[in-house]
Amino acid sequence: MSEVRPSPRRWLTAGIATLALASASCAEDPGPTQLSEWGLFTAGATPVDGLVEYELQAPLFSDYSTKRRFLRLPPGGEITVTADGHFVFPEGTIIAKTFGFRDDLRDASSHERIVETRLLELRGGRWIPYVYLWNDDASDAQLTRIGARIPITFTDLHGETQTINYRVPSTTQCGNCHGGQGDVAPLGPRVEQLDRDHDYGAGPENQLDHLVELGWMVSRPSGPLPFVDPMDEAAPLEDRARSYLHANCAHCHRQEGAADQSGLWFDIAQTDEARLGFCKIPAAAGRGTGGRSVDIWPGDPDRSILLFRMESTEPGIKMPELPAVLVHEEGVALMREWIASLPARACD
Ligand code: HEC
Ligand code: HEC
Repeated sequence: MSEVRPSPRRWLTAGIATLALASASCAEDPGPTQLSEWGLFTAGATPVDGLVEYELQAPLFSDYSTKRRFLRLPPGGEITVTADGHFVFPEGTIIAKTFGFRDDLRDASSHERIVETRLLELRGGRWIPYVYLWNDDASDAQLTRIGARIPITFTDLHGETQTINYRVPSTTQCGNCHGGQGDVAPLGPRVEQLDRDHDYGAGPENQLDHLVELGWMVSRPSGPLPFVDPMDEAAPLEDRARSYLHANCAHCHRQEGAADQSGLWFDIAQTDEARLGFCKIPAAAGRGTGGRSVDIWPGDPDRSILLFRMESTEPGIKMPELPAVLVHEEGVALMREWIASLPARACD
């Protein structure tokens, strides 16, 4: 946790979250110690029948790990949708996310090491976070509360060997992103994020249609926001950039998020340019600015603090500060292209 270097306010938030968790875990059982006890996955993180996989238009980048996400609703349970497109799940819902690493990023069929599975369970009206670490032979996974550092070696997209100290977050850290200053809640599932195809075994099918077919939704909802796959070069650049910022930054950079005091808010519905960082002077001066004066200098990526911080791997400077330790090269390239494309402006 020490190398994460949260701001003082975040230490406070984390402290409160720790207290809340500590008191909650005295009152309740801490959860099954083996992932297999949930009856969700068998060896090799293989999902059982009844778990429904989903993908997101714009996922969170986590050190080039593979991610698989699954939903399980209680019998008869139904998802409703809020006016702004967020899913509301029934009591007893479980959402699972499994992380792994391919030996060779250039080869989707290379061996995959399964590392961890995270769960969110809606119980008693609250989302309870769990994280499990897989055995070396992927036979089962063990509950951890304190997280872990796991050395991982893989061949990157340039054919070079990368060794990283991958971070599995503690259950307190879940709240940094899933709660901010509020309760833990799911981040991905919303109409626009799931409005894409997935192959459930009979060819590509729209994920929302599939949920309707299962009886998990009454009808297919539609959402107004332009979520696209940020790496889809056929999509409009502006939508790709805003989807990327939403997925990778907005869980902290939003009202009530862990970074709300920075004044930089990246949720995809945000329309205020100053909030988005255009010509915005940073909340704190110092080495986090790299000597640049504004977060986004329209038309000039190299004068934008945003890029300086995304290109850094130094704790205290690097953005996002969690979870990844590596720079997301493709994300940096997208931000560079987007900022360069913005009509030039004199910020000084
Ligand atoms: C650095 C921020 C961050 C931390 C720390 C974090 N998560 Fe998440 N998590 C996300 C984001 C963003 C998503 C949605 C995007 C995605 O899945 O790619 C997500 C997705 C999930 C999902 C799938 C459902 C959903 O919310 O979209 C589960 C389950 C989950 N996280 C559990 C956990 C648990 C348990 C912990 C703590 C052990 C944790 N996460 C820590 C950012 C974080
Ligand atoms: C896990 C939470 C978290 C995530 C995720 C995150 N940030 Fe931050 N960010 C912070 C915090 C906290 C601050 C304020 C303290 C500081 O400047 O380090 C901050 C500050 C910043 C600043 C300086 C803002 C100012 O005006 O002072 C920039 C620029 C920034 N973040 C960019 C990003 C970008 C771009 C992403 C996504 C690629 C991102 N951040 C993701 C927590 C986060």
